[in-house]
Amino acid sequence: MSLGKLSRRPRGELRKVLIIDDETDIRELLDLTVARMGLSADCAGSVAEARRLLELHRYHLCLTDMRLPDGDGLEIVRLITERFGETPIAVITAYGTTQNAVAALKAGAFDYLTKPLALDHLRSLINSAINLPDTGSPDCPRLSESEGIQLVGRSAAIEHVRQMIDKLARSQAPVYISGESGTGKELAARLIHLQGSRRTAPFVPVNCGAIPENLMESEFFGYRKGAFTGADADRDGFFQVAKGGTLFLDEVADLPLPMQVKLLRAIQEKKVRKVGSPNEENVDVRIISATHRNLKNCVDGQSFRQDLYYRLNVIELRMPPLRERQEDVAPLVEALLTRIGGTHTPRIDPQAMHALSTYGFPGNVRELENILERASALCVDHLIQLDDLHLAPETMAVSGGAGLAGETLDDYINRVEKQAILDALAKTAFNRTAAARLLGVTFRSLRYRIERLGIEE
Ligand SMILES: Nc1ncnc2c1ncn2[C@@H]1O[C@H](COP(=O)(O)OP(=O)(O)OP(=O)(O)O)[C@@H](O)[C@H]1O
Ligand SMILES: [Mg+2]
Repeated sequence: MSLGKLSRRPRGELRKVLIIDDETDIRELLDLTVARMGLSADCAGSVAEARRLLELHRYHLCLTDMRLPDGDGLEIVRLITERFGETPIAVITAYGTTQNAVAALKAGAFDYLTKPLALDHLRSLINSAINLPDTGSPDCPRLSESEGIQLVGRSAAIEHVRQMIDKLARSQAPVYISGESGTGKELAARLIHLQGSRRTAPFVPVNCGAIPENLMESEFFGYRKGAFTGADADRDGFFQVAKGGTLFLDEVADLPLPMQVKLLRAIQEKKVRKVGSPNEENVDVRIISATHRNLKNCVDGQSFRQDLYYRLNVIELRMPPLRERQEDVAPLVEALLTRIGGTHTPRIDPQAMHALSTYGFPGNVRELENILERASALCVDHLIQLDDLHLAPETMAVSGGAGLAGETLDDYINRVEKQAILDALAKTAFNRTAAARLLGVTFRSLRYRIERLGIEE
């Protein structure tokens, strides 16, 4: 543990922990651990006693057993979440009762521990709770804002996302972020990390779809020297690199099934084994995952394991598409133009602004960003006009008796297909992986179509 961090508290003010367990042995073990970390503890053996203490003192952390003589730990989780929201609460569950832990996290618990208690897990949990930023004061700016990373928008939908992020940052629960491409899933994950107790440790984003299957295990868990040909030194994997921080599993639906089994184990046991190593090592990593696909459908189609789905999707954060919050377009345009232009921020003509505020944005904020980048480069005298936006027609003229005079059906279909691919490539700044995703086809299929239709970048 890091004593350095704890010693920043004002002299004389001992941070207080409330311990609730009916077993004397466990109470003593917890009390001792807490005391060794320079904190003070109050102990309660029942829900009633805990309620009495909570009325009397303000705690920096509460640790509660799940089964208590006069009720259960969930009752305490609910009470604290409703009445003493500033106090992080962690539950202690019997080994193998994952459902309890998940229920507690959903009810607002900060984290959980399983019995028998592993002291290093306990210490890192206490450390995380004590290091949560104090957001008690309404004037306290969000930490990420000072780093220039923020969620722009004033719609009710984005305000709800902002509130969820604040809440999730104060928890260790796994979060699953859903939403279409370009809606800000990675941005939301970064904000949860930056506003929480792990903010000084690494945020490690991993694109699960971009790692070759045969390298997956060593990329995630690392390897030992000599584990395979070419392994001439020990190497850490994503889990080790993210120690104490957050691992962001992007496009998690793309993980092959054998890797899903290994990941589930790592998450459940909080332990990983390097390829070629006989020993497991503890890793304290928070998992945030995302995909633009519908993960539940992947479970139904059996390409994603149900048990892993439940572990990752303890709390879901949905990023709304831009077309559902058109009032965010104007503030986004302003923020993005400042980001793109720096000191030479271009202005935008009212007609162009109007066109943007009524456009559908199939590629969401990322598309808006690309449109503005291109327009900033093309515009004259730092003024973006309608023509500089190159907005794609909203819908292709596929319906009705479309087709140019004398055009065969095949020519017509090829023309529409080519246009759709060109639009997708333009929206994604010629990133073929992203364009394929936007079009709902595989990368390979897109490459094939690009060759067949003779499309050149
Ligand atoms: N509300 C927002 N405020 C400011 N910038 C935003 C917002 N939403 C998204 N962005 C910006 O839009 C771009 C796309 O966001 P991000 O990469 O987080 O999306 P994503 O959902 O992960 O997309 P994909 O599915 O394509 O990976 C980023 O540059 C991000 O900073
Ligand atoms: Mg992303």
